[in-house]
Amino acid sequence: MRILLDTANINDIRYFNEYYPIEGVTTNPTILSKEKGNVIENLSEIRRIIGPEKELHVQVTETSFDRIIREAEALVSTFGKNTFVKIPVTDVGLKVTKHLSERGFGVTVTAVLTAAQGMLASNAGASYVAPYISRSENLCADGIGTVADIAEIFKASGSATQILAASFKTAKEVLDVAVAGCHAATIGSSIMKMLISHTTTDTSIQGFERDWRSAYGSSTLLELLEGK
Ligand code: G3P
Repeated sequence: MRILLDTANINDIRYFNEYYPIEGVTTNPTILSKEKGNVIENLSEIRRIIGPEKELHVQVTETSFDRIIREAEALVSTFGKNTFVKIPVTDVGLKVTKHLSERGFGVTVTAVLTAAQGMLASNAGASYVAPYISRSENLCADGIGTVADIAEIFKASGSATQILAASFKTAKEVLDVAVAGCHAATIGSSIMKMLISHTTTDTSIQGFERDWRSAYGSSTLLELLEGK
């Protein structure tokens, strides 16, 4: 399953883009509102950090068809190719998705809580649908099951739409959507860190270092290889 980063924090994006195998960055108005400074400059800086090839998903804030179209055109012309226009799953959103996808725009239909919404978004031509996992599970609904259902529906219909799961509160939810057949997940910084952290990994590394030093003292393997 492909991984994207769900934040607009410049320091986090620099860090995760350098060290982790992320394939892009996703934002929404709430995520953007958490960062100081000029929002256009911040998004431009994100694009500069991740480069032109990785995906940048930016959500529209307009609500009428004509203004969303103008906003989408401006987003792609400002932030370049591989900029995906995020549109909440409403009736206007579906109309916009049909229009933009026919024109070759990448559209991510977001705030998806049910498989029915995901199916409609796919039929409208969305590149991605973004089901919200923890927001669903918090309401005692089955967010992971919704991803499994959408995956099944897309497979049965031969849909080219990909599932980009979002809204995670635990690392286990990320693994669960991967097992459920999700194509991609967008993950916040703290959950991203949890995916790699394990105390036994840390103690194992400490043991390797201790055993090496007790056998070879201060000599390093690199020094021995280089004949020093
Ligand atoms: O991309 C938006 C989605 O991840 C929302 O997450 O944590 O606000 O439910 P959250």
